[in-house]
Amino acid sequence: MSVTALVGAQWGDEGKGKIIDILASKADVVVRAQGGNNAGHTVVVDGVTYKLHLIPSGILYDGTVCVIGNGIVIDPKAILAEMENVKANGRSLEGLKIDARAHVVLPYHIALDGLSEKMRGGSDIGTTRKGIGPCYMDKAERSGIRICDFINPVVFAQKLKNNLIVKNKVITQIYGGQELDFDQIFDEYQEYAKLLAPYVADTSVLVYDAIKAGKNVLFEGAQGALLDIDMGTYPYVTSSHPTTGGFCIGAGIGPTLIDDCLGVCKSYTTRVGKGPFPTELDDEIGEVIRTKGEEFGTTTGRARRCGWLDLVILRFAVRLNGLTSLAVNKLDTLSGIKQLKVCVGYNRKGEILRDFPVDISELADCEPIYKTFDGWDEDISSVRNYDELPLNAKKYIEFIEKSLGLKVSMVGVGPSRDQNLVR
Ligand code: GDP
Ligand code: IMO
Ligand code: MG
Repeated sequence: MSVTALVGAQWGDEGKGKIIDILASKADVVVRAQGGNNAGHTVVVDGVTYKLHLIPSGILYDGTVCVIGNGIVIDPKAILAEMENVKANGRSLEGLKIDARAHVVLPYHIALDGLSEKMRGGSDIGTTRKGIGPCYMDKAERSGIRICDFINPVVFAQKLKNNLIVKNKVITQIYGGQELDFDQIFDEYQEYAKLLAPYVADTSVLVYDAIKAGKNVLFEGAQGALLDIDMGTYPYVTSSHPTTGGFCIGAGIGPTLIDDCLGVCKSYTTRVGKGPFPTELDDEIGEVIRTKGEEFGTTTGRARRCGWLDLVILRFAVRLNGLTSLAVNKLDTLSGIKQLKVCVGYNRKGEILRDFPVDISELADCEPIYKTFDGWDEDISSVRNYDELPLNAKKYIEFIEKSLGLKVSMVGVGPSRDQNLVR
């Protein structure tokens, strides 16, 4: 038995979905614990591409219990569309469980996400506009509507009515937006509540009992370390904790119950949305990586910003998450690039920084310090054994391993289940 926590080690989109799907073949329970449908996890099985946003990637195995924990914010319309898509592909939803404490994303959250981004003008965060931040705001402010409220029509009506009084004032009087109508939302969302009710449970009990019964439990992170609301590149972050600590809060279990903490990164760095990115490549190589790596957002379709691998960031992710091993994806994307660079530290006006600065304004004075590696020309997407990789590719991986003092346990050479070299 084992309890594994899997997290993104960069700014999201590290290929977590693929690794989760691979590990889920041995898992009894897969648990999502933070974020919402801002996440986009791509899983490729037998040539079919699944894009999952809220449903844990374990759903593609029959018999796996898939938990949406208390720390998640759920857009009912979005999850129901995803459930339909899963069913349409012949997969069962029998194992899906939604925590009664999870919060509901409502139309006013989505409206306010868009309106506040618009008002920020050029200083916008570049959110996914899925209402995630505003929903977590209500949770912290204690006016949120939880799933247990949502599936009780009397409580839902009362809370929705009260919230709309305030939200409509903010929407119309502060942001100049369109007022939202109670009846319209209530009638539409009450139908969604009825459809979701059969899946609702106290998943904290379910997850705890599974761990105590010696089952294999896998925690599926969304986003990545640098998007953590406390520790990330604030304010250019998401509104949850995409870290191993976040699993304890967002699934309602204690830290001693987790055995292994696996980080997932790419062999380079990407980021969607605004905010600092020290190793960003605004040149032809950045474009090559974007095109070859198909670096376009799973959720919003936006072009991802691309840059060299940054070990300052990965060191930060190791510390923040207590990582015990690392999966490095997309090594195949780097094939054909003559010289590869890896950032080993930042030079801040002559001072060498090994740790990511707290204040992002300091980054403006930081120059990445690069170590250069010779690349490889071979297409490595059909390699199935680590030892068969070109020597320079192995040197690249082993440099990461040595620099971080952490085992690279998996190397990705393509998007499919079998394009993963286990070491
Ligand atoms: P997630 O949000 O971390 O689950 O990652 P996304 O699914 O948003 O983005 C990762 C993208 O890379 C997806 O299109 C995956 O299919 C793809 N991918 C994952 N691993 C590899 C790999 O090793 N090589 C290549 N070429 N693509 C990969
Ligand atoms: P996965 O799980 C990459 C980014 C957004 C924006 C910031 C805040 O697929 O790795 P939000 O809508 O959360 O308030 O936006 O966070 N962001 C992601 N970037 N991958 C994700 O998820 C992301 N989820 C949010 O682009 O910069
Ligand atoms: Mg993604």
